[in-house]
Amino acid sequence: MTEDATTGFGHGKVILLGEHAVVYGQPAVAAGMQVGVRAHASTGTGCVRAPAWQLDLQVGDDSPVIAAIDRLCQRLGVASRDLDLWLEAEVPARAGLGSSAAMAVAVARAVAARTGAGEEDVLAAVAAAEAVFHKTPSGIDAAVASRGGVGRFDREAGWQATPIRQPIELCVGLSGQTRQTSDLVSAVADLCERTPVARRLIDALGDLARAGMEALASGDRESLGHQFNMAHGLLSGLGVSTPELDALVRAARAAGALGAKLTGAGGGGAVIALAPDRAEDVLKRWRSLGCYGFLTLVGK
Ligand code: PMV
Repeated sequence: MTEDATTGFGHGKVILLGEHAVVYGQPAVAAGMQVGVRAHASTGTGCVRAPAWQLDLQVGDDSPVIAAIDRLCQRLGVASRDLDLWLEAEVPARAGLGSSAAMAVAVARAVAARTGAGEEDVLAAVAAAEAVFHKTPSGIDAAVASRGGVGRFDREAGWQATPIRQPIELCVGLSGQTRQTSDLVSAVADLCERTPVARRLIDALGDLARAGMEALASGDRESLGHQFNMAHGLLSGLGVSTPELDALVRAARAAGALGAKLTGAGGGGAVIALAPDRAEDVLKRWRSLGCYGFLTLVGK
């Protein structure tokens, strides 16, 4: 890194309720985590390094990360081959925790700090990068990565920050299975086409997101826990859970969680559990399954 380095940060995220439904115009509730991706951009020769993701790339390489960075830089009027990018990633990749959007926001902000581009250009550049990873993203990941906090997202109204009564501590458990969001979104679309009743599950997931917002506003953690449990059942019905995710969810409930569900696209990735006072027990049970978990405070 040279002395002219500029820096940007993007939040990792958890979707509390409404994943997949948000693709069909329903609302989702999501929260930014304190952890995310920090990008440092400096004058260079097109090196892209992210040690935590074991990435050591060069502009011109055949890689979605390079394709996304190319598009993003192009949108901001900068040649990616004239920059070096150093990425400090605190969220795992392809785990449903918004790593690609966090990276895109971090890089776009670091680049914008060099060119003076405004927030609107940053968001357009992030959307261009996200399209490389997710083909037709709803935009929820990009919204949370750039804004943080807790909010409601739908395709029409975008991101609306939502007041919550008190910050909530969530346990995040990693299955260790990576997956591609776009594959899961396509699988749900196929199911809805073949089996129209699946659309009712989508609608019910949207209803749970609406109910979840009320529970967050009033600080009703019991209700939120039930909503997590119901959402996991519906997401399983849509075929996006896995035996590993189900095991993590069951273990969290057995350890005393009020509710637990997969978060993000599913097919692997992560689960979240709401376990006030029992969080350490949840993490311990997950460890006994050989899975890593951590705590994150959302809404602070
Ligand atoms: O990329 P993930 O795992 O955080 O999932 C994104 C949420 C989906 O609703 C499944 C897809 C989307 O674009 O909203």
